[in-house]
Amino acid sequence: MNRILVTGGAGFIGSNFVHHVVGNTDAQVTVLDKLTYASTEESLAGLPEDRVRLVVGDIADASVVDPLVEEADAVVHYAAESHNDNSLSDPGPFIRTNIVGTFTLLEAARRYDKRFHHVSTDEVYGDLPLVEESLGEPKRFTEDTAYNPSSPYSASKAGSDHLVRAWVRSFGVRATISNCSNNYGPWQHIEKFIPRQVTEVIDGRRPRVYGDGLNVRDWIHTSDHSSAVLTILDRGRIGETYLIGADGERSNIDVVRAILRHFGRDDDDIEWVTDRAGHDRRYAIESGKLRTELGWTPQFQDFEAGLADTIEWYQANEAWWRPAKAATEAAYAAKGQ
Ligand code: NAD
Ligand code: DAU
Repeated sequence: MNRILVTGGAGFIGSNFVHHVVGNTDAQVTVLDKLTYASTEESLAGLPEDRVRLVVGDIADASVVDPLVEEADAVVHYAAESHNDNSLSDPGPFIRTNIVGTFTLLEAARRYDKRFHHVSTDEVYGDLPLVEESLGEPKRFTEDTAYNPSSPYSASKAGSDHLVRAWVRSFGVRATISNCSNNYGPWQHIEKFIPRQVTEVIDGRRPRVYGDGLNVRDWIHTSDHSSAVLTILDRGRIGETYLIGADGERSNIDVVRAILRHFGRDDDDIEWVTDRAGHDRRYAIESGKLRTELGWTPQFQDFEAGLADTIEWYQANEAWWRPAKAATEAAYAAKGQ
């Protein structure tokens, strides 16, 4: 695969994948990105111009998508509206980008018979009870877990997964799907949990925790997500779904306390704010299929060390996130969050 089209390659996770491809293959990369508020174009700076090209455009626009898919050997599809809280305030863009955009790309992949990898989320499976609330052995998501999305965001991603499955079965599109857990690392927009709390503490404010703070997320470093996606693109079986996770389950309150400790602040220096509507309780990934079948293993096994690196990155890169901070917090404040 010499030419890879990466949609959403100027976003948090897509840009990490572009770096991973440039560092680990000889492929040429075309990034197709609309450059929404969530894009981090700076993260692509310095990549070799003869290997990486940025095309600014919308994945829901067939006139943009078609020629780019035609010239590529493979499409890796990251572009999405990605934030649950935004999907609760205004679901429309999630339907257009995540569903209509994926449909537009699939039609092009079908027309030109291209390899397609769809990047999705564990949220399509809904949520799990907390370990202490489960009856018997605590459950984790597997590739066989039934779809049960809770939010407009996760429902739109579930819809996109179903489109991919249907295009494989009905039209023979050569596609794979991955469903990954919560990513952390550099370049994540400060609307998201970890960078929001880190930048709140940098600003001398208290972290803002929803509900009772006991909700659990299964954290994976974004570099491990990238290596998993490239592995699936290389060796994944067509038509298969692979769950990506790094055994990183932590409650929100534990993550916030680790951030507070890093800054020498008191463990209980927390602002409890209005809970998210429909807030999923716990996510947990069983990634045995990816590990045994394709031989993938995560490199970042120590979440606390990865979190410390990430905090230091936000301290060192204030010039990047500062312009978005006031507006992001004003939008949260309007919702009591
Ligand atoms: P992000 O919001 O940081 O980046 C999304 C990128 O897509 C941005 O660069 C944006 O400009 C681009 N984009 C949005 N709408 C577009 C459109 N219509 N046309 C072209 N480009 C458009 O998101 P992220 O956190 O990097 O997530 C990337 C993908 O990974 C998404 O599909 C998401 O569902 C999935 N995912 C994310 C996580 C996570 O923890 N963040 C976990 C699992 C899966
Ligand atoms: O599981 C994968 C998903 O992880 C991805 O598909 C999404 O794109 C990504 O945004 C992420 O979704 P979450 O909703 O889990 O992430 P978020 O960072 O928004 O919130 C993480 C947890 O922290 C969640 O339980 C809500 C809580 N939270 C979030 C914010 C922003 C707070 O308690 N306070 C906050 O200020």
